[in-house]
Amino acid sequence: ATPGSAAARIAAWQHRAGRHGLPWQGTRDPYRIWLSEIMLQQTQAATVVPYYTRFLDLFPTVIDLADAPQDAVLQAWAGLGYYARARNLHRCAQALRDQFGGRFPARAAELAQLPGIGPSTAAAIAAFAFGERAPILDGNVRRVLARYFAVEGDPTAARTARQLWEHAQALLAAAPAELDMTAYTQGQMDLGATICTRTQPDCARCPLAPDCRARIENRQDELPAPRAR
Ligand code: ADE
Repeated sequence: ATPGSAAARIAAWQHRAGRHGLPWQGTRDPYRIWLSEIMLQQTQAATVVPYYTRFLDLFPTVIDLADAPQDAVLQAWAGLGYYARARNLHRCAQALRDQFGGRFPARAAELAQLPGIGPSTAAAIAAFAFGERAPILDGNVRRVLARYFAVEGDPTAARTARQLWEHAQALLAAAPAELDMTAYTQGQMDLGATICTRTQPDCARCPLAPDCRARIENRQDELPAPRAR
């Protein structure tokens, strides 16, 4: 018998063995969470930390960011790369100032309408800042779910992505009402980054191992399928 729902096991694992003590953890301020999620999209946490701290010194609130000249924002971003992120960040701050009175909407569906915020980032912000039971599906989580449910096909192909979103929904639907959404959301990311890695996943330490289909069928190295090209 497997102890507890998969989601509850991921949340418990995050408390015990996930990443802790990063400067964007332990806050529910949507501005700080949004900024960290945008920076973390294509950049590793260790690289993000000093940029994040400096950015918040320069722009302590979303209004400060919205009111800053674009040059100042791009300069604070310099070194993180993917500058479209910085331009969208600035545009998003201005949209929040001009259309939302400087307040973040609380729902993933609304957050996903803003510049630079895709569906998974929207769900992460809604879960971390507002506790919404919104599923995420970033690159790491796609790999975890493709293995756990043995989802075939290129995980970024539309059909496969749809199946993965449905599995992500179903995991939450099966979880207890008291699920810690912060631990669950961060736990999925951390599991993908530290345990369920692309090569040589560390199944011995994985809370999903007892009922992971890829592990049971010994197909960890076949799933997810390589990206079609
Ligand atoms: N990548 C995107 N969001 C992240 C987060 N909250 N922690 C670590 N890596 C991430």
